Amino acid sequence: MKFEIKDSYVGDVYILFATEDEYIPSDLNTIEDGLAASLTPMIEASRFRGKAGQTFEYTPSGEGPKKVILLGAGKLSDDNAQTLENYGGFAVKSTLMSGYKSIAIKGTGAEEDARILAGARLASYRFDKYMTKLTDDQKPSVETVTLVTSAVEAATKAYGPLEAAVQGTELARDLVHEPPNVLYPASYADRIRELEALGVKVTVLGEKEMTELGMHSLLGVGQGSVRESHMAIMEWNGGGDEAPVAFVGKGVCFDTGGISLKPGPNMQDMKGDMGGSAAVVGAMKSLALRKAKANVVGLVGLVENMPDGNASRPGDIVYTMSGQTVENQNTDAEGRLVLCDVLWYAQETYKPSAIIDLATLTGAIIVSLGHDNAGLFSNDDTLSGQLTAAGLAENEPVWRLPMGSSYDKLLKSQFADMKNIGGPAAGSITAAQFLKRFIKEGTPWAHIDIAGVAWKSVDKAPTDPAWASGFGPRLLDRLIKDNYESA
Ligand code: BES
Ligand code: MN
Ligand code: ZN
Repeated sequence: MKFEIKDSYVGDVYILFATEDEYIPSDLNTIEDGLAASLTPMIEASRFRGKAGQTFEYTPSGEGPKKVILLGAGKLSDDNAQTLENYGGFAVKSTLMSGYKSIAIKGTGAEEDARILAGARLASYRFDKYMTKLTDDQKPSVETVTLVTSAVEAATKAYGPLEAAVQGTELARDLVHEPPNVLYPASYADRIRELEALGVKVTVLGEKEMTELGMHSLLGVGQGSVRESHMAIMEWNGGGDEAPVAFVGKGVCFDTGGISLKPGPNMQDMKGDMGGSAAVVGAMKSLALRKAKANVVGLVGLVENMPDGNASRPGDIVYTMSGQTVENQNTDAEGRLVLCDVLWYAQETYKPSAIIDLATLTGAIIVSLGHDNAGLFSNDDTLSGQLTAAGLAENEPVWRLPMGSSYDKLLKSQFADMKNIGGPAAGSITAAQFLKRFIKEGTPWAHIDIAGVAWKSVDKAPTDPAWASGFGPRLLDRLIKDNYESA
C-alpha cells in the first residue's frame, strides 16, 4: 500500500475529520461550494454529532470524490496525537475492504497531521500470507492512502520518523505472527540478519560459542529442542563514543512449558513467546531507518522450550554465565533463565549506560494489569519515568510495580543460590527480582513484562487489530529520541 501527503484532494473516497465542536466541517466546501450548508439538514436529522467512532456517509453526484465520509473524532484534547492516529486508523478500517482503490484523508493543517498517516498505516496491517483461498472480496481494495493537508512540508518531515517507528511495529507484528515451524531460532536469526542492509551490525552466536561463554542457563532451556539455540546481537552506532543503551529481549520461539508441560488449550498462543525479542528487533529497525543519533545494542536470546529425553528437569541446577547457580523448579519459568544470561553478557560486553529488557514473562502480569498496560520494574526512578512518559506518548503504556528484598527472599533455594520460581504470590514481581540478581550494581535497569500486551484475540483499536500488537518498537524508539540523542 502507498502512503502519501498532498495539499489537495485526490482519490475515490474523501474522508473528513469531524469533532464534537465542529461536526459539520467547513472543509466540505472545498469539495463543492456550499456543500456544508446543503448537507446540514441531512446531518442534523441523523445522529451524527462528531463523536468518536461515528460516521456519516454521503454520495456526491458529478465530478470529484465518489464518496464522502465524515469521521467523528470526538473532542480534541491534549492527547491530540492519539486522537489523530485513531482518526487515520478508523479512516482505513472503514474503507479498506470497500472496493474503492484510493482514499484521501483530510488533515487539520498542522504538523501533527503526520500522526493521521501513521495511524492509517498501522490500521492497514494484515498478516494473511498463509491464506491461500482468499477471494478478491476478502482482500483489501485500497491501494493508496493520501493525507491532505495545507502543511505538506511540515507533515512530510514529521512523518519520516513516525513511519520508521511504524515499520518497526510491523516487523514486530510479523515476527510474532509467524508460526513456530517457520520462525525458530535459526530462521529467526536469518530474519534479523536482514537488518544489515540498513547498517545494523548483526552477530549471531550458536550453541558452541554460548557454551564457551558459560551461558548454561539459556542453553538449558533450549536443550530439549532439536533446534539449535542462538543469541543475536544488533549494534546501531549512530552516536558518538558514549556507552550504548542495551535492549534485551526474550525470544522463546515456542514455549510448551518443557517437562513442566503447559495445558493444551491455547498453547498455540505460545508462538508469541518471542514478543519481547520482536520488540527489540523492531526497535533496532526503527532506529536504523531514521538514522537515530544514538548508540544502541539489541540482544535477543532465541530458544525453543520443548519436553524431550534431553530436556532440562525440575531439580536441575545450572551455572549461569554470571557464576550464580539456579535450581530449576519449574521448566515453564524459562524466560528468566534465558534473560539472565543475555543480560549478563550484555553488561560484560557493552557496559551499557542503561539496560532494558522486554519479555512475555509471566501470566501473572495479565492478572494484575490485563491487556492495557505492560508491567514495568526498575531499579532507577529516572529511567522508569522516561519509559512511563514514552509509553504514554506512543500509546504503549507501562505501569510500574514495586520491588524489594521481601520479594527477593522468595527465591531462596535449599540447594543453589536461587530457584527460578517464587511461589504463588506476586509472580511478576518475583520474576523481576530474579532478573535483578543479574544486574550489576550501578547500572540503570528496567524490565518490561509484556505478556498481557504482546497479543490479544480481538481488535483493540483500528490501529491495533487482533492479534500481534507489535508492542515495543514505538516505546523504545521514543525513549531513545527523547532521552538519548541530541536533536
Ligand atoms: N511465556 C510464559 C508467560 C505467558 C503466559 C506469556 C501467558 C503470555 C501469556 C512464561 O514462560 C511462563 O510460562 N510463566 C509461568 C511462570 C510460572 C511457572 C512461575 C506462568 O506465568 O505461569
Ligand atoms: Mn513458560
Ligand atoms: Zn515463556
